[in-house]
Amino acid sequence: MKNTVTTLQEMKRKGEKISMLTCYDYTTACLMEDAGINAILIGDSLGMTMMGYSDTLPVTVDDIIHHCASVSRGLKDTFLVADMPFMSYQTSVYDAVKNAGRLVKEGHAQAVKLEGGASVCEQIQAIVNADIPVVAHIGLTPQSINAFGGFKVQGKNVERAIQIVEDAKAVEAAGAFMVTLECVPEELATLISKELTIPTIGIGAGAGCDGQVLVYQDMLGMFSGFKPKFVKHYANIGEEMKNAFKAYDAEVKAKTFPAAEHNFAIDADVMKAVKA
Ligand code: KIV
Ligand code: NA
Repeated sequence: MKNTVTTLQEMKRKGEKISMLTCYDYTTACLMEDAGINAILIGDSLGMTMMGYSDTLPVTVDDIIHHCASVSRGLKDTFLVADMPFMSYQTSVYDAVKNAGRLVKEGHAQAVKLEGGASVCEQIQAIVNADIPVVAHIGLTPQSINAFGGFKVQGKNVERAIQIVEDAKAVEAAGAFMVTLECVPEELATLISKELTIPTIGIGAGAGCDGQVLVYQDMLGMFSGFKPKFVKHYANIGEEMKNAFKAYDAEVKAKTFPAAEHNFAIDADVMKAVKA
């Protein structure tokens, strides 16, 4: 079944949960498509996972387009959302529409996602008016890291909790067709999911959301060291990869790879002529 804005919203109405993962390359996209994941996000988290930056702020529209177009070539039924990076929509409504358009035209995204609540509703409205579906993103918004003073759970006090509920209602009213809730206490995210008619996609926001999203390197266990509380490792791919790299290194050095079955043959008389 092809996933669209309509089918994703229909899933919420039927009480079916939406699965979403980040993805940044063609090979992984093909695997997620085969697995039946509903939606893929070209997250600006690619700045950290693929480019090694310490936050998402340096990511450009061109970076997102490069990865989004690559992923799009591996997809058939999976819905494709592209993140709008830092300063591609905050600067003006014009910039927001222009850059959203580039993500669709050059990146082949089917929707764009941007961070912020009431403060970006003008941008959401204008992008939706250009017939580009918008996913909003509220709660912990990593592009605001300097304003927040770090990555922390959002909505633990009354003032901020009320603000997040108001942001959720504002982005729905502005025309967003879905909203990401990041690092929001479970009960608050559940309340928001009940209040809104559009689907909520949680990351660190509990099972009451209408869907879930994870960064794929996190859920595959590709990073050793820090594991955020909300991440579950579904595999230990990092160890698997490292073991394969070590085995290859050892075989190259032991001259056991390549073996006879990996080699191409040549006719004896051709070789004789070459040597002559
Ligand atoms: O960039 C990203 O990966 C995201 C998800 C964590 C929601 O925005
Ligand atoms: Na993001």
